[in-house]
Formats: sequence, C-alpha cells, structure tokens
Amino acid sequence: MQTNSAGPGGEDGFPADILIALDRSKSRGLRVQVEHALREAIRLGRLPSGSTMPPSRTLASELRISRSVVVEAYDQLVAEGYLVARQGSATWVCGPRQVDGPRPTSVRRDGTGDAFPSGLPDPASFPKRDWLRHYQAVLSDPPAGAFGYPDPRGAASLRCALAQYLGRVRAVRTTPEQVLVCGGISQGLGLVCRALRRRGATRIAVEDPCLWLHRRLISAAGLEPVPIPVDDDGIDVSRLARASVDAVLVAPAHSFPTGAVLSPDRRVTLIKLASAGGVILIEDDYDAEFRYDRTPIGALQGLSPDHVVYAGTASKMLSPALRLGWLAAPLWLMDDLQRAKLLDDVATETLGQLTLARFIERGALASHLRRMRPRYRRRRDRLIDALARHVPQATPAGAAAGLHLYLRLPHSAVESDVVEVAREHGLHVEGAARHWATPTTAPPAILIGYANLEEDALEQAIQALGRAIEEAARQPGIH
Ligand SMILES: Cc1ncc(COP(=O)(O)O)c(C=O)c1O
Repeated sequence: MQTNSAGPGGEDGFPADILIALDRSKSRGLRVQVEHALREAIRLGRLPSGSTMPPSRTLASELRISRSVVVEAYDQLVAEGYLVARQGSATWVCGPRQVDGPRPTSVRRDGTGDAFPSGLPDPASFPKRDWLRHYQAVLSDPPAGAFGYPDPRGAASLRCALAQYLGRVRAVRTTPEQVLVCGGISQGLGLVCRALRRRGATRIAVEDPCLWLHRRLISAAGLEPVPIPVDDDGIDVSRLARASVDAVLVAPAHSFPTGAVLSPDRRVTLIKLASAGGVILIEDDYDAEFRYDRTPIGALQGLSPDHVVYAGTASKMLSPALRLGWLAAPLWLMDDLQRAKLLDDVATETLGQLTLARFIERGALASHLRRMRPRYRRRRDRLIDALARHVPQATPAGAAAGLHLYLRLPHSAVESDVVEVAREHGLHVEGAARHWATPTTAPPAILIGYANLEEDALEQAIQALGRAIEEAARQPGIH
C-alpha cells in the first residue's frame, strides 16, 4: 500500500495537520477516497469551518493525482453542503451547523456500531417529560419493597399493566402470573430457549432471513436454529412438518427483515400444528404497534395460548435503551422461565419497570403511540416516494409497518458496495445479507431505518443513495 499525504501547504490556507491517505492498491476510485477523507476531516473538525481549501491544482500535485479528480471531489462536497465555492475565489469549509445538523439518516454516533439493525425509534421523539414525571412519581411514592431485590418475574404492577394492555391492544390471552419481564426480546428468547432445552428441545425453526442475533442466541442456548424460507406470505409453513423441530420462532405481524406479513392460511396452518402438540410457537411481536395501512392483526398467541410464547418489547415503541421486554407464556413453562431469568441476571431493574407500569396505566403510552404513528407513516410515505423518483432500479418490499424498509436491489448490485458508498455519502443503511442463514447466497438488499429520517433531509439522502447505487455499479471492484 502506498499512501500520500497533502501538506504542509500553509500558504494555501490548507492546514498542515490534514492527512489524506490514498491507497492506490485498492481498486476503489481515487475520487471517492479524496471525497471521503475530506468529508471526514470536516466532520471531525480537523478542517474547521471557514478554513480555505487548497486550490485543486495544489492538492492534486501534492497527492500526485489528476486535477480533475480533486475538482470532482470538491464539486461533490459543494453539492452536499460541506464546501462553498464562488466563481473566481477560493473554496472554503462551510460552518459546522450545516454539516453537523440533523444527519440525513440513522448515522450511528451512539457506540452501538452495527450490532443492532436499522429501525430504531426516533430518539428526538422519546417522551422525556412524561417519562421523567412518572419516574419522579415512582421515587416519591415507591411501593413496598421497591428498593429490595426485585421479583425475577418482574414488578407486579408492570405484569398487571402488561397483561391488560396486551389483551386490549394485541388480543393476547394472559394473566399477570403468566407475564415475565425481561431485558428486551433478546433476553426473552434466550430464556425461552433454555427453558425449552430443559424440557428436551433440541431444534428451533427460524425464519430465513431473520434477525441474525436470534440465530446466535438460539445456538448460544445449546439449540440448533433450523432456517425455513420466508416469501411474500411469511414463513413457508409447508416445510415445517418435515423439519422435525420442537419450536418455531416467527414474527407473523411483520417478518424481519423482509417485512412480510404471515398470510391468513399460513396462520391457520401454524396454529393447527401448534395446537396438535407438534411444536411450541415463539411469537416475536417486536413492532406490531406500528401498522400504517390497516388495523394491526391480533397476535397468534390469542388463538392458542397454551402453545405460544408471546414476546414483546419497548424497544420500538419507546427506546431500546430501556432494555424492557416481556414474555406472555403458558403456565406450564413459567417455573422454567423464572429459573432461567434468576440464573441469567437475577431480575430486571425495578425503577424502569415501575415507570413503564405507570406510563401504560395512565395512558401515556397510548398517547405517545398516537403521536408517533402519523409521524412515522409520513416519513415512510416520503421515503417510498423519494425512492420511486431517485432509485427506480430498487424495489421496496413488505407491509406498510414498523420502522424499517427492506429495499431489494437490482441483481447486478453488490450489496456491500452500495452500503459502503452510501455511508461515504453520510447515509447509514444496513446490508441485509447477514440476516440470512447463508449470507453468500442472499439476494442484494438493504435496510433503511426511516423513523429518525428528518423529512427535510430525506430528499437529499435518497438522491445520494441513488448516486451510491450507480457509483457502486460503476466500480465493480470495491468488494
Ligand atoms: C426482529 C426483531 N425482534 C426483536 C427486536 C427487539 O429486540 P429487543 O427487545 O431485545 O431490543 C428487534 C430489534 O431490532 C428485531 O429486529
């Protein structure tokens, strides 16, 4: 690898401490590399607002590249608002407000990296004031035992609130004794796997594709995940009978990541299979509160409560930072679940549970969801509209639901290239491949989380995505 750095160049006003490293051994375009380096330098403040950029000729000669490469890179950054150019005068770096303001998409600055998928709720819309009010009320008048070790099953008030809420909103048939509070669905799934394993289970069917983490959690609990294909009607239930599995993990309301909804026929088949005692269903109901085109379909659990473990979460409705989720399970599984929870982390933190209980009981959750649905729906509609205009070669898939969109790319597209180039344009999109059991044969697709897409920035963001797809197609060597 050979690198060049630009500088000192003080006469040009180009700060001596800005390093542009070019890797000529990479087949990736030099222009993309220059653009990326300058964009990052501006974002990180290494090229401060108001500083003058070196003339393109000077920079090109220092980097030993053609001047036109630098001119194109500057043009692109001017179009994105990072640089300002006036005819006959220097090019300079724009004020930080313009570049550090709302990011066009869900750029991660929170340290979670890429472990978790797209589709986070809008952090700016978290109901801070209400949450704080209920939290303070809990602290001012804590129930007996609030500061002792919590019940592994969860706080009684939250289990009561959830049993009622789930019955009303999701047609779940349960009681507080059958609800177990956990650290999100992720922990809940691990608990269910361990409880089933104690009872002799060895294999769990999973949708293919499904959230990659779920396959890992199942394996970590000592069970084998068995991938079953998903099509536009959800999981292919006809394959289940032959799969010889003990349980099926399924997201019937909104399969992840494709967004498919389980068809009515398949719901019936699945319930018959479970009710006949063939398998236990684990229903992942992670984002069912957000359905934009019709009333959400009730949970499968309500059709066969003794054979379905229902799993819900606050991660989409409020925030994944709360780490609050819940299981509504058949009574016969509760002791094993409670034991698994105790051995995992003793119990879930109490104050957040008590706050959520009040939040549900006093109607704050319902009004938050009423506020968020139209907002998310509008963002989704705008996204689909912008995609049709700027990225016509890609196809959105799935129901009008949830907080993410699954976008099928043309077969010729290389998913990782599109993701990489899109990120260089400041767009955080996620490649879908890792969610497939065999990523190497996955059709090219990306996930776009739209809940925190600023509507004003959306147009620009999707234009950039269209350019990214074209650019990636022109550079078949990136990967
Ligand atoms: C399919 C699926 N299930 C469940 C969850 C929620 O997980 P948790 O409740 O652990 O935050 C997510 C989050 O992205 C998800 O994509």
